[in-house]
Amino acid sequence: MSKTLINTFSKKLIAWHGVSGRSGLPWQGNRDPYAVWVSEIMLQQTQVATVLERYPRFMKRFPTVKKLAAVDIDEVLAEWAGLGYYSRARNLHACAKQVMQEFSGKFPNDPIILEQLKGIGRSTAGAIAAFAFHERAPILDANVKRILARLFAIDGAIQEKTVNDRLWQLASDLLPTQPENMPVYTQALMDFGATWCTARKPVCISLEKKCPFAKECQANLSDQVLTLPKKVAKAKSPEFDCDMLLVRAGNFILLQKRPSKAIWGGLWSLPESAWRPKTEKSHKRAPALKELLTMTLPKENILGLAKSIKELKQGNQIKHIFTHRRLWMQIWEGRSSKALEFLGPDLKWVPLSQLGRYGLPQPIKILLQGLSLARGDDLKN
Ligand code: ADE
Repeated sequence: MSKTLINTFSKKLIAWHGVSGRSGLPWQGNRDPYAVWVSEIMLQQTQVATVLERYPRFMKRFPTVKKLAAVDIDEVLAEWAGLGYYSRARNLHACAKQVMQEFSGKFPNDPIILEQLKGIGRSTAGAIAAFAFHERAPILDANVKRILARLFAIDGAIQEKTVNDRLWQLASDLLPTQPENMPVYTQALMDFGATWCTARKPVCISLEKKCPFAKECQANLSDQVLTLPKKVAKAKSPEFDCDMLLVRAGNFILLQKRPSKAIWGGLWSLPESAWRPKTEKSHKRAPALKELLTMTLPKENILGLAKSIKELKQGNQIKHIFTHRRLWMQIWEGRSSKALEFLGPDLKWVPLSQLGRYGLPQPIKILLQGLSLARGDDLKN
């Protein structure tokens, strides 16, 4: 291992950030751990451009951990709608409550304690500790793993425990010695991975930009930049089919609240059947009305609705890709003659004009937005 690189890395990286890093982002330069924590969770699986739009809105609606902990989870999910990975929103809410109850509303500064909180992994704990408390805590997200695997030509698969442990050790060894440099260093590491040492087009293979580590980077020196880090080949994610009801009664639409532990847990969506593994023949099915209602609705609602719906027509099939699954949703469209009947707490008739108040899964939101636009409603508010 290169001793000089260990000693000079943080200084060179901070210098790089001064010229080529990102600055002026709304979550930067803030030492409020609540603000840092919200931004880090939102940035985990969402692009910076989207976070730039949604983060200020979230902070305006829930300006303190106390306010976030006090609201109903439905409000948090509705605010999170469209950002995806909704367990982040559920964990944010649970973590806010934990901070209020177990830490009197004050985030702990020790990364080991932060990591015990709901939804905070080791790398996010490091980022919060570094940005908010100037703790010398390392981060190791996918971008940082790539930077380190290249700099030190680590050629084991990064999913392996021994490789992962080695990367954490390196991440720790490379930290700046001065705690006050932790925020800029941590941000620089994130920015360098996101913009220069990228997976497919790192600057070292281009002609215009010169990487500050070109002479030390073991992957660059041994022509392995594009093959490091090594990953174990991922199996293709399995495909499923399901049926969904799009039933309207005048300007009302039938929505069902999803169980909290399921995918899109706690969001409002179209009534949905159980998922079936996708087969060659699955798109040729033509289930009868009663069968579709039985598959998608609670027992007590089937009869009443069956009487009020004449037929269900086969609508579009929508494909949605989750992290580990692909889902084909077959929409069945129908009209019902009754709208104001009370169906239960988890099944309701919602006016198209009020859809914006409900947290909806993104593909369903887009589908319903089509219906709403036809009526001139605005789903955004
Ligand atoms: N991704 C995770 N945290 C980030 C941050 N602070 N800035 C930019 N991208 C990030």
